Amino acid sequence: MSKQKDSAKDICNAFSIDPTRVPNHVGVVMDGNGRWASQRGLERTEGHAAGESAILESLEAAVDIGVKWYTVYAFSTENWRRPPSEVAFLMKFNEDVLVRRRDYINDLGIRIRFAGRRDWRVPRRLLRRIQESEELTRKNKKANFTVAFNYGGRTEIVDAVQKLVDDKVKKVDERAIQSRLYFPEMPDVDLYVRTSGEYRISNFLLWQLAYSELVFTDVLWPDFSKEHLYAAVREYQNRDRRYGGLSDSSPDAKV
Ligand code: IPE
Ligand code: IPE
Ligand code: MG
Repeated sequence: MSKQKDSAKDICNAFSIDPTRVPNHVGVVMDGNGRWASQRGLERTEGHAAGESAILESLEAAVDIGVKWYTVYAFSTENWRRPPSEVAFLMKFNEDVLVRRRDYINDLGIRIRFAGRRDWRVPRRLLRRIQESEELTRKNKKANFTVAFNYGGRTEIVDAVQKLVDDKVKKVDERAIQSRLYFPEMPDVDLYVRTSGEYRISNFLLWQLAYSELVFTDVLWPDFSKEHLYAAVREYQNRDRRYGGLSDSSPDAKV
C-alpha cells in the first residue's frame, strides 16, 4: 500500500472516520463572517479576512482523508446586493487570497477551479488571477478545489439551458444538462456543510445537491477548523443514504 494511502487511513482512524466511506465531494457554504466580526466590534470585512485560514485548513483536512472535490461558496450572484465597499473588498480579497495561496495549493497537487459567471462585474484583474491559477494547477490530480464565485445555482442551470438551445438539442435528458454545467465532470455533492446556524441552501450548487447529506453547524466560518470538518464527516457517515430506494440494511431491500 502506498505511503499516502496509509496516512489518509491513519488520519481517519485518529478521528473515528471510516476510511472506506469518505465523501467524494464536500461542498461548504462559508457563512457567518460578518457576525464573527460584529461580535468582536470589528468591521464586517475583518470577518472575511479572518476566514482565510479556515479555507486552507479545511481544504487540507478534507484532502488528507481522501476527499477528491472540495467546493466553497465565496460569492453568490445575490451578494452584489451588499454595500459597494463590502463588494469591492471581497473582489480584492479573493484576488489576494489566490496570489497568496496558489503556490501552496499547487504544491499539494490540488487543482484550482472557479465556478460562476465571468461577467463584466468581476474585475479584470481578478479574472486574470483566476485564469492564471487554473492554468498553473491544471494538471494536478490529487484533488479539486472549486471556488464558487459570482455563482448561483439557478444561473448555472439557466446557462446550461441556453447552451442546449444554442446546440439545438431536441431530446433533453439529465445527461444533456449535466454536460453543459460549468464543470460537467464535477460529481454530485455527497456532503453539504453550512456554518453559522443558517438552515438554507442560498442558491449553492442546486443541481449537484439533489441527494446530498446536509450538515449544519452553529460555528461561524472564521472559527471553522479541521475538527469541525471531521465532525461533519462523522455525521455524514451516520446517515443512511437511500436515493429513493430502500436501505441496504432493510429486510425488504433487494440485493
Ligand atoms: C459569508 O459571511 C461570506 C460571504 C457571503 C461572502 P457573511 O458575510 O454572509 O456573514 P454574515 O452571514 O453576515 O454573518
Ligand atoms: C451564502 O451566504 C453565500 C456565500 C457564503 C458566499 P449569504 O450570507 O449570502 O446567504 P443568505 O443571504 O444568508 O441566504
Ligand atoms: Mg451570511
